[in-house]
Amino acid sequence: KEDTEDVKDLMFERLPKRLINLLRLLGEYGEELNMPVYVVGGFVRDLLLGIENFDVDIVVEGDGLEYAKYVAKQLEATMVSYEKFLTASIFFKDGYRIDIATARTEYYERPAELPLVDISTIKKDLYRRDFTINAMAIKLNLGNFGVLYDFFGSRDDLNKGIIRVLHKLSFIEDPTRIIRAVRFEQRFGFNIEKSTLELLERTLEEGYLEKVTGQRVRQELEKILEEKKPLDAIKRLANLKILNHIFAKTYYTKVMEEKLKRLFAGFQELEKIYGQINKFYCVLRILLEFYDEQTLKEVVKKYGIPKKFADDLKVTEKKVGFVKEMVEKRVKFSELYKILGKPVSETAAHIVAYLDREDRKYLFDYLRRVFNTKLEKVSGNMVIKKYNLKASPLIGKIMNELFCKKLDNPEIDEIEELDKLVAKYFGGVK
Ligand code: CTP
Repeated sequence: KEDTEDVKDLMFERLPKRLINLLRLLGEYGEELNMPVYVVGGFVRDLLLGIENFDVDIVVEGDGLEYAKYVAKQLEATMVSYEKFLTASIFFKDGYRIDIATARTEYYERPAELPLVDISTIKKDLYRRDFTINAMAIKLNLGNFGVLYDFFGSRDDLNKGIIRVLHKLSFIEDPTRIIRAVRFEQRFGFNIEKSTLELLERTLEEGYLEKVTGQRVRQELEKILEEKKPLDAIKRLANLKILNHIFAKTYYTKVMEEKLKRLFAGFQELEKIYGQINKFYCVLRILLEFYDEQTLKEVVKKYGIPKKFADDLKVTEKKVGFVKEMVEKRVKFSELYKILGKPVSETAAHIVAYLDREDRKYLFDYLRRVFNTKLEKVSGNMVIKKYNLKASPLIGKIMNELFCKKLDNPEIDEIEELDKLVAKYFGGVK
């Protein structure tokens, strides 16, 4: 049949031996339970594209939960099942995981509130998916191992570089697909096909994206930020006016784009300094800049962002221009410290978005210095004891000044400098 093609050789050629063995076993178990078993979705797409992808999504025609249980037992792995959805995940001892689903068409609500998933064939299961390129399956059962099922022209679209929905209601059924379309388009350098684009725009204009929970939109945006070229995707979201349907008061301009560009250029260095950073929050710092307080409050609530985010944003917004000037003038670290202190990662990112390459370097130097500088020989108690002083805010002031001196010059002799400071504030060493 023309819907199928043997891709066994391709699998042997492109997949690691261990993965092939696993897929073979998964097919064998399907055979033993008399259930057709397929690997589907992104895995198949990437196999054909020659892109590494070890995320195995399995679909079973039959009882996926029974199959998952059997697999877990045979492979001595752990199974976690989501009965409601007839899906399960299998966790291997080394942390590797595969997902197993029951082929299905739709959910139906019973009067008794028990959601029922209609068990179906692989073709119907693939038909309810997002785009043709994600709607292929490869059979794993012994006799048919490596047979590719392509019912909807997926290979054609893959070859032509086209993102196409499978049916007219796709975006309405799941408006997050509007964002996904852009993500896949930009990831692969594809194009959203013309009538798909029309459907996308119509769904957008009719306000469907606004109906999606903030949590789900946020997840899709976070996925975009994990892509190799997130800025291209954001640009496309802006050009297609999708961004306006997510953040109603964000006006994407050349200036904003420059900020984002500098921000993305700074991420790697920021992660070296701060460890893992929340890219989503950092990008929001730019997208939500200069929002009025009320709207900002609403956005923050919708997307489940901590309230502190809004407060920090407002504070940074006010001083970022000033900090930029200071950095450009290469003021002493101690001067920057008075304004910036030890900024949280998102505040640092916010400032990074305003700085050109060399200026960013100076800011990074500052951050490294400020997080690495510690007074080693001097503490508040030590000062009090050594000079026989009473506890007072003045002690804190001295400590702070000493810290600032060390920021500017890590080589100072702490004790020597301390003597000078005590002399300055208390009129001589006692
Ligand atoms: N899917 C869908 N509609 C969505 C999300 C997912 O139809 N809104 C389907 C797609 O067919 C997709 C599969 O579920 O292939 C798995 O989703 P996901 O893991 O998000 O996507 P992948 O295609 O695996 O993409 P990635 O390479 O980014 O992991």
